Amino acid sequence: MDLKLDQIYDRLYQSAFGLGIRILPGKGPQVVSGAHALNRINEILEKEGKLHPMIVTGPRIVKSEFFVNACGTLKEYSLFSDVRPDPDTKTVEKIAAMYTQERCDCFVAIGGGSNMDAAKAASARIARPDRTLQEMGGTLKVRRRTPLFLAVPTTAGTGSECTVAAVVTDPETHHKYSINDFVLCPDYAILDPVLTVSLPPFLTATTGMDALTHAVEAYLNRPYHRRETPGQCREAVRAIFRYLPEAFKKPDNLKARQEMLFASFKAGLAFTTACVGNVHAAAHTIGGMYHVPHGLANAVLLPIVLEDYGKKVERPLADLARFAHIAAGTDSECAAAFIQKIRDMNRTFGIPDHIEKISEDDLDQMASWAVQEANPLYPVPVIYDREHFKRILRRVGQLS
Ligand SMILES: [Fe+2]
Repeated sequence: MDLKLDQIYDRLYQSAFGLGIRILPGKGPQVVSGAHALNRINEILEKEGKLHPMIVTGPRIVKSEFFVNACGTLKEYSLFSDVRPDPDTKTVEKIAAMYTQERCDCFVAIGGGSNMDAAKAASARIARPDRTLQEMGGTLKVRRRTPLFLAVPTTAGTGSECTVAAVVTDPETHHKYSINDFVLCPDYAILDPVLTVSLPPFLTATTGMDALTHAVEAYLNRPYHRRETPGQCREAVRAIFRYLPEAFKKPDNLKARQEMLFASFKAGLAFTTACVGNVHAAAHTIGGMYHVPHGLANAVLLPIVLEDYGKKVERPLADLARFAHIAAGTDSECAAAFIQKIRDMNRTFGIPDHIEKISEDDLDQMASWAVQEANPLYPVPVIYDREHFKRILRRVGQLS
């Protein structure tokens, strides 16, 4: 093994962090699932003694029938319905200000990762009015109780309904960063398959590939595994290979939609403990710089990075392939089949094998953001330095 000095530091950090992770609380949100589970919001708020929720969502969902019906059951609420993809810090500040002005007493975030993350970041600002979002970027910098939080995903992918992370973007610098703290884990996750039925097939596919990336990256980060983590990853991978193509082909298949919500939830629980990896670190920079949707960037990067890891990940990828019944044979054959399966799914979904927008001029900046995110925190199979990230980004952009 030929490790540089900073990589030795990273591995020592990860060993210590891994020990800490095993003793930290691992409680996830309470799950309310099934068709029309959304209509149980009122019941939950009553049980929790909450009177004035702040609903956070986006412009598409606010017009949907299910949203209008659900709001009709609430006596009193405030509404922020202008969260856009890759929410910026200004949006988060607006939500936090509205929450305070209108004396809300809890959050209900409805939508994909952007809506949930914007509300989670706002809840961090409510808990810590003395700290800016930038100051809370990183790990365990909120450390104060946040308001009661109900997360209602309308995509099956982000896992934000059960994670401790909120990803926001600085609108001036385009830097996309994550606030990670256990207090940001939602109290309730409402997994209602009816809400995902109207999601267009391509979005179903890219968000589903995001969930797959969570499960695979968490599975490879063995130093941070708790007892339950490998099982959560394996089950999520198997369900995604089985049900994502069905949800893509037949959007109103409620069984496939519900299974995808469960898979995304399990993958979210897994990566909340075990973290994600270099795929996400690179995908966040592509999303921040060019507004490429997160799931799409992950879907393109995942087979490229897994192939780049090579022998280091043969055994775990082979385990996943066998568990998901997609291959048999030697580790090397099964790992290759696993990567090929991801490429095949991408092709079926119309996901390209590269991203055209990447420019050579941006690589330095992007690689430095990626290193900043990944190291020393992510216990990845291969630690990437700036040059390594640049090589990967060049391949993703087909620049060389
Ligand atoms: Fe993700």
